Amino acid sequence: MSESTTQSSVTRRSFLTSGTRLGAVVLASPYLANAQAPAGSGGTQALNVGIIGTGAQGRVLLNAALKIPDIRFKAVCDIWNENRTYGERLLKKFGHDVKPFEDYREMLSSVPELDAVIVATPDWYHAEHTNAALKAGKHVYCEKLMSNTIEGARSMVKTARETGKLLQIGHQRRSNPRYLYARDQLVRHFKILGRITNINALWNRAVSDDLTWTARNEIPKATLEKYGYDDMHQFRNWRWFKKYSGGPISDLGAHQIDVFNWMLGTNPVNVMAGGGVDYYKNHEWYDNVMAIYEFHTSAGPVRAFYEVLTTTSAGGGYHESFMGDDGTLKMSENPKYTKVYREARAPEWDHFVKEGVLTKPGAGEEGAAAPSLPWEKEFKPKFTLAPPRASVVDVRETAALSAWNIPVVLDKAIHQPHLENFFDAIRKGTPLTCPGEQGLASAVTVLKVNEAVQARKMLTMKPDDFIV
Ligand SMILES: NC(=O)c1ccc[n+]([C@@H]2O[C@H](COP(=O)([O-])OP(=O)(O)OC[C@H]3O[C@@H](n4cnc5c(N)ncnc54)[C@H](O)[C@@H]3O)[C@@H](O)[C@H]2O)c1
Repeated sequence: MSESTTQSSVTRRSFLTSGTRLGAVVLASPYLANAQAPAGSGGTQALNVGIIGTGAQGRVLLNAALKIPDIRFKAVCDIWNENRTYGERLLKKFGHDVKPFEDYREMLSSVPELDAVIVATPDWYHAEHTNAALKAGKHVYCEKLMSNTIEGARSMVKTARETGKLLQIGHQRRSNPRYLYARDQLVRHFKILGRITNINALWNRAVSDDLTWTARNEIPKATLEKYGYDDMHQFRNWRWFKKYSGGPISDLGAHQIDVFNWMLGTNPVNVMAGGGVDYYKNHEWYDNVMAIYEFHTSAGPVRAFYEVLTTTSAGGGYHESFMGDDGTLKMSENPKYTKVYREARAPEWDHFVKEGVLTKPGAGEEGAAAPSLPWEKEFKPKFTLAPPRASVVDVRETAALSAWNIPVVLDKAIHQPHLENFFDAIRKGTPLTCPGEQGLASAVTVLKVNEAVQARKMLTMKPDDFIV
């Protein structure tokens, strides 16, 4: 159930078809300058980096980090020989003089020259690994969800403060130039959506099999026990078990629910939710969850719906729609789901196209003017079709919304700008886009959903719940 990380190729395809290429990011809009994520350094201070956890996401982060100048990997730690060897070989192939470790304590004590540690282990280990690395004097980039417990996430913020080291949480959309442009320019500066009243987001996936292993790469029972895993099945499928994870709402929902808070600039005041273990027989976590949050913003209340389903891909992938009285911004890490829709009542948007703030959809894209077909001119029907019966008319479909494009495309791996931001923070003092405090607020927002499902009632959240 790990998130797909194949978007960079999709991005590249759509980027190339967009026709404009100016380096790493398409700078089609003059308003991008303020929104661009901090660029990678180059020729600057070299940083020694270690990584704990070289599974699916650890590999994605390694591949992204390998593209950033002056990053020297020195250590790789993983309890699974299979993944540790993969990480070690990959890094050595790219010329990094890297030492392998099974136990992170040994890594921290025997490679003192590390400046930073990347933590990409299952969520229940994030607090332990991050706190230890911070206490050893390292800056930490830790994957989302910050922790599977609120206490764990709080302890990480406290340790970062006590040690004075940087802590970046892996909510990478916060460093994505397209997301930054959408929030800072379209929503906040040009107020293109009018007043945001609702948010609707989802991540829906078809049924998938559990992850497996072979007899050859099975971890010895004693090693699994040493690191707290009940068995090999749980070790591989940790996302589905309560000891190790917050389930799909935390695994998938965390990405998008984090963006709710980030886009609105505030945290929710209450949440109600439903969910259940309705389909899979050998999982502990809810395989479908639907949640409704209420936010109070300076413009008024915003009600936000989130759905994560793991037994159907209906609903079209993963995206977040920010819905205002003048328009809707549909965002996704995958550019093919990204659009801005104008309400018929909104002030005209053509000047935004002239100014480069938005672009019009190209031929064949959703929202483009339909080409007129030869037969349309010649064929004059001699009869009229009966109007549809009232019962099948959807009253919400009173007018099709015109679709517009955002002129910013990321031509890098989707995690690269977030890693760049972390390394720039170490080297140049650039502010982190997702410091521990923000990661904690997201963890509280996400984990409250599971509490609400269990309690079967609306739960309120106070400002104090989100801070240390
Ligand atoms: N930001 C994103 O887009 C994104 C995408 C996927 C996953 N993630 C996050 O990345 C993290 C890892 O997810 P994954 O999909 O790579 O899981 P995974 O199971 O594929 O990899 C986890 C790795 O950690 C290792 N590990 C487990 N316990 C360890 C320990 N005590 N010490 C050292 N190594 C240990 C495992 O052997 C494995 O190699 C999770 O927190 C997940 O939420 C983030």
